[in-house]
Amino acid sequence: MTSLPPLLLLCVCVCAAAVPPVGTQPEQVHISYPGVSGSMLVTWSTANETESVVEFGVWGGQLFSRSAKGNSSVFINEGLERRSVFIHRVTLTDLRPGTAYVYHCGSGSGWSDVFSFTALNESVSFSPRFAVFGDMGNENPQSLSRLQKDTQMGMYDAILHIGDFAYDMDEDNGRIGDEFMKQIQSIAAYTPYMTCPGNHESAFNFSHYRGRFSMPGHTENLWYSWNVGPAHIISFSTEVYFYLEYGLDLLFRQYEWLRKDLEEANRPENRALRPWIITMAHRPMYCSDDDGDDCTRFQSYVRIGRSDTTPPAPGLEELFYQHGVDLELWAHEHTYERLWPVYGFKVFNGSSEEPYVNPKAPVHIITGSAGCREKHDGFIPKPRDWSAFRSTDYGYTRMRLINYTHLYLEQVSDDQYGKVIDQIMLVKEKHGPDAWL
Ligand SMILES: [Fe+2]
Repeated sequence: MTSLPPLLLLCVCVCAAAVPPVGTQPEQVHISYPGVSGSMLVTWSTANETESVVEFGVWGGQLFSRSAKGNSSVFINEGLERRSVFIHRVTLTDLRPGTAYVYHCGSGSGWSDVFSFTALNESVSFSPRFAVFGDMGNENPQSLSRLQKDTQMGMYDAILHIGDFAYDMDEDNGRIGDEFMKQIQSIAAYTPYMTCPGNHESAFNFSHYRGRFSMPGHTENLWYSWNVGPAHIISFSTEVYFYLEYGLDLLFRQYEWLRKDLEEANRPENRALRPWIITMAHRPMYCSDDDGDDCTRFQSYVRIGRSDTTPPAPGLEELFYQHGVDLELWAHEHTYERLWPVYGFKVFNGSSEEPYVNPKAPVHIITGSAGCREKHDGFIPKPRDWSAFRSTDYGYTRMRLINYTHLYLEQVSDDQYGKVIDQIMLVKEKHGPDAWL
């Protein structure tokens, strides 16, 4: 038996090692509501190029009786390796609202596991239930297992992830992003997973955030709105106030879009149907954390805008107040904080006995404690006047839009094994700017 000369053997080994693995099996499956009646959008990844197919059918009916095709695009992480993955998107249409479906995605080169979802109930009298959180990472995602169990128990109609994913998606040439999207599949393949960008998505001009998710509208997920039950939900980017190197025009375009979207939502016929206007974005206007972030400053960029740009950039507190936004959901601070109804640093409770019954200003919730490698943030020792409740426990928020007048919020502590540590019923007999009078 002859053996290879050492130089040839080395060459064979190097050549073999240089061949990348072939991956046609779907992974990182997640769904989102495209904002179009009777539809759901399925997104997933493969290492190599394949077809993009979803086979699906009504739960309990004939499996995979329907099929939909979409397309894929190559996503390249702009790091040293210029590693690429293929992102597949398929929109399912003609779904029966409120009906459960079973699906798998992939192609003849490989199928995913079987997942299920419930097509969104599109009645305005529907009472949707949400899990709400921000700042969840690949490392130390402490709330994820509890959220998995909640999701498996059918507790949510949608999940709102308010920025900061993976920590960070671009790291290790995008492998951290891939791992995080695999982790989140356990909830996001079953329940519409609706997002907004945070500062941890800033690498390469937010390319991972823009490339991996599939939100409604045509802004590569940066800002959009959608309707569910009695609510109009607006997602936007606070990051346009901080990463001016990616274009000051983004800030103005978003502001103009917000203004028009709020005007449309406030047309009497629209507000009558969807009286709750809820915003979600990453960096809060207010907080009582001790880390020097934007929200710790009186002149927060998000709240009052920036005077150091040309032209000066408008803030959002006035815009939201003038259009009668009911509830503002934030994250970024790795804590939970509930505020009294507040505007211009003043508290506008409905009454001293019932502060959240007919409040005279928007209510803010900061829920950025899902868990990540940066652990907790801290609070200043003495809370501000507008701070009603705060906690440094890891956890997440549950929200239920009960009807036109009642919205329920509760905070789950994962540190305390799922204990509800805070809850309010926000009651509004009147919505819109007139509610403040
Ligand atoms: Fe953040």
